[in-house]
Amino acid sequence: MKRILLTGASSGIGLAMLKELIKKDYYVYGIGRDFSSALADTGKLTDDKFRLLSMDLIDTVDLPKLVKDILNDGPIDILINNAGVAYYGNHETIAAEHIEEMVTVNLTVPLLLSRLVLPAMKLRGFGMIVNVSSVTAKNTANTHGCAYGATKAGLSSFGASLFEEARKSGVKVMNIHPDLTDTALYRNADFFPGEACDAHLEAAEIARMTVAAIEEMYTNPGLNISDLTLRPQRNVLRKK
Ligand SMILES: NC(=O)c1ccc[n+]([C@@H]2O[C@H](COP(=O)([O-])OP(=O)(O)OC[C@H]3O[C@@H](n4cnc5c(N)ncnc54)[C@H](OP(=O)(O)O)[C@@H]3O)[C@@H](O)[C@H]2O)c1
Repeated sequence: MKRILLTGASSGIGLAMLKELIKKDYYVYGIGRDFSSALADTGKLTDDKFRLLSMDLIDTVDLPKLVKDILNDGPIDILINNAGVAYYGNHETIAAEHIEEMVTVNLTVPLLLSRLVLPAMKLRGFGMIVNVSSVTAKNTANTHGCAYGATKAGLSSFGASLFEEARKSGVKVMNIHPDLTDTALYRNADFFPGEACDAHLEAAEIARMTVAAIEEMYTNPGLNISDLTLRPQRNVLRKK
């Protein structure tokens, strides 16, 4: 059974990934702060396939112990850097602590976790790092989301560079670039994704495509899927 460290497992895309992964041959260590609503779902799932760990990723000093404790039980085959937070508006209106939160959760944490899992992956000659970035990373400009877009562009740049650096050691790196997805991410925005089913993605769709790509890379060791971009058919926003 492959062992996965998945951040942001308590809601949205991460919770959908947790559910998709444990249907297959994976054991998932899921990180989040508040699993109370996720437990309504996960309570119905076989808990011998996952462990939920409550922690605030802002406290980056706790990351080495987290990884060490998991490695004491066995290898980490896949790291999925999915946790993220978004605040929108003209840049000067975004609170300084919210800018720092986005930089830490969206960018610093994936960089630190990758650093912690890489030595063992390289020694074994195998491992995967999956970064849940965003289509915003591919835009030249993200007005009303300058800082969020910058964190995601940084994450995608990191993933692409890390692949080039680590590919000869057998480590695979995949950046996922979802567009508007119907999750709680927009709690701090003045808009929602469009309501019609062709105007947003579902978290379950992102999860299915991500797990399918992971499985494909397992089946074909010579293949690295570096970029998975998922977009709804139509581009529609709803004002709150
Ligand atoms: N929704 C979209 O349209 C969209 C599009 C492109 C990319 N993405 C990316 O997809 C990823 C997942 O987001 P989502 O849409 O599923 O939103 P979500 O439902 O709000 O999920 C965010 C997840 O990140 C976790 N998280 C945030 N801050 C944390 C912290 N300080 N410590 C620990 N966990 C923390 C949350 O845990 P708690 O709630 O327990 O704190 C939650 O599990 C993010 O990286 C986001 O940027 C989303």
